[in-house]
Order: sequence, then structure tokens, then C-alpha cells
Amino acid sequence: MNIEPKPVCEICNDTSWVTHGDGPSAVTARCGCFATGIRARRTAAAKIPLRHDHSTFASYKPRNESGRAARSACEKFAEFWPDREGLLIMGPAGVGKTHLGIATLREVVNSGASGLFCDWRLFLQDIKASFEDPEMSESDLINPVIQVDLLVLDDLAAGRMSEWAAEVLQVVIASRYNECATTIITTNYREDLVDRIGTRVRSRLAEMCQPVTIVGEDYRLKERRDQC
Ligand SMILES: Nc1ncnc2c1ncn2[C@@H]1O[C@H](COP(=O)(O)OP(=O)(O)OP(=O)(O)O)[C@@H](O)[C@H]1O
Ligand SMILES: [Mg+2]
Ligand SMILES: [Zn+2]
Repeated sequence: MNIEPKPVCEICNDTSWVTHGDGPSAVTARCGCFATGIRARRTAAAKIPLRHDHSTFASYKPRNESGRAARSACEKFAEFWPDREGLLIMGPAGVGKTHLGIATLREVVNSGASGLFCDWRLFLQDIKASFEDPEMSESDLINPVIQVDLLVLDDLAAGRMSEWAAEVLQVVIASRYNECATTIITTNYREDLVDRIGTRVRSRLAEMCQPVTIVGEDYRLKERRDQC
């Protein structure tokens, strides 16, 4: 027995084209599922980690004024995209920096731009791993981070900032700076960020990103305590 699989889109039979009208006046146009498919592909390409599947503006519940201001800055950023100024989201562990960065990325990608979530430490690890892999080059990993419309660079300066790590960072930030590309950065460092990333990168970030600081308790610990 030969059973044809049901098409995902019954309007266009998965061709992504639909014809309106008949005869010489018929008009063929893209089916609505085409844009949805692009959005789904863009979202997949943004590499949002599974852990943050739930991270949206609606699911962010500010715990104090700094959280409210941070959410509002991120919402405005998404609303006014592609305005060029990025965000530098600073604050201690568990206050929702990554949550808000990802919520913003989601909105921007949904509006049709390309976006990428990049965990700073994992990025360095991947580059190191590429040194051992003859099929991969360093630029295969660095180019997408430089070229994407919106980069969310998460946990900047976490881990050991070796000379090599500082050089990778300089290349990424200088390239995005020169191209006026927009970047959202999250970090645990504030005044001491300059000690970690150096004056040249810090200076560019000051021009590229609006600073946003979140203060407060670690949401991860607080949630656990509330459950007990
Ligand atoms: N105000 C909030 N409302 C809802 N969920 C929150 C809030 N703040 C944090 N969370 C949740 O708590 C967890 C930790 O948040 P997140 O990973 O964004 O913290 P972070 O500030 O990036 O911390 P770290 O510096 O350790 O990376 C996530 O699951 C996030 O969704
Ligand atoms: Mg984080
Ligand atoms: Zn369709």
C-alpha cells in the first residue's frame, strides 16, 4: 500500500507557491508558509540554547527597578531595530541578562534579520577544537560571528582572558565596530570589565552599546528557595 505523506502546508501542498484566480488573470504568489519557514530557519540558525527556550519578554518578571529598566531597554531595542546602538547588559549571576539578550534576539530574528547567540567561552573552545580539525578553519567559526546582523555575545570575559583570547575578541569587536554591526553583550563585569578586555575593546564597546545594569538576587537560587 502506498500512502502519500500529508503535506505540512495544505494550502500550497508544500510547494510554497499559490495561484489566485484562473486563466490569463491568474496570479502566482508566495504562500504564507514561506515566510514562516524562513523565520523558523532563521530562529534555528540563531542557535538559541535549549535552556533558554522559555526566555521571552513576556516570561521575564522584573524583580526591581533595574530589571524593569533593562526589559524596557531591550524591548525598545527590538522595536527600533535596526537602529545601530547595541546593549551592554551587566550584572551579577542569575539576574536575567542572558534571558533578556535572548528575548531580544528572538524578536529581531522574527522581524526578518539574521541573528546569532554566541557563548563567549564555548566560542573560544570551538575555535581551539578547530585547530585539530583539518576540515575546519578558525575563520569558519569567526566569520559568522562577525557577519551576522545581530550578535548576542554572552558572558563576555568569563574564563581566562589569555593573550590569544584577547586577540580573538579584538578581531570580533573591531570588525563589527568597523561595519557598524549591532551587538548585544552580557557580562558579569562592570567597572572591572576594562581590566578583562583592555582599553581598546572597552572604548569601542562604549561607542557601540548602551550600558544596562541589572542588580538583585540570583533568580536561580531564589526560585529554588521558594519551592522549598
Ligand atoms: N526576572 C526574571 N523573570 C523570569 N525569569 C528569570 C528572571 N531572571 C532570571 N530568570 C531566569 O533565571 C535563569 C537564570 O537567568 P539568566 O541565565 O538570564 O541569568 P544571567 O544574568 O545571564 O546569569 P549568569 O551571569 O550566571 O550568566 C533563567 O532560567 C532565566 O530565565
Ligand atoms: Mg548568562
Ligand atoms: Zn504553504
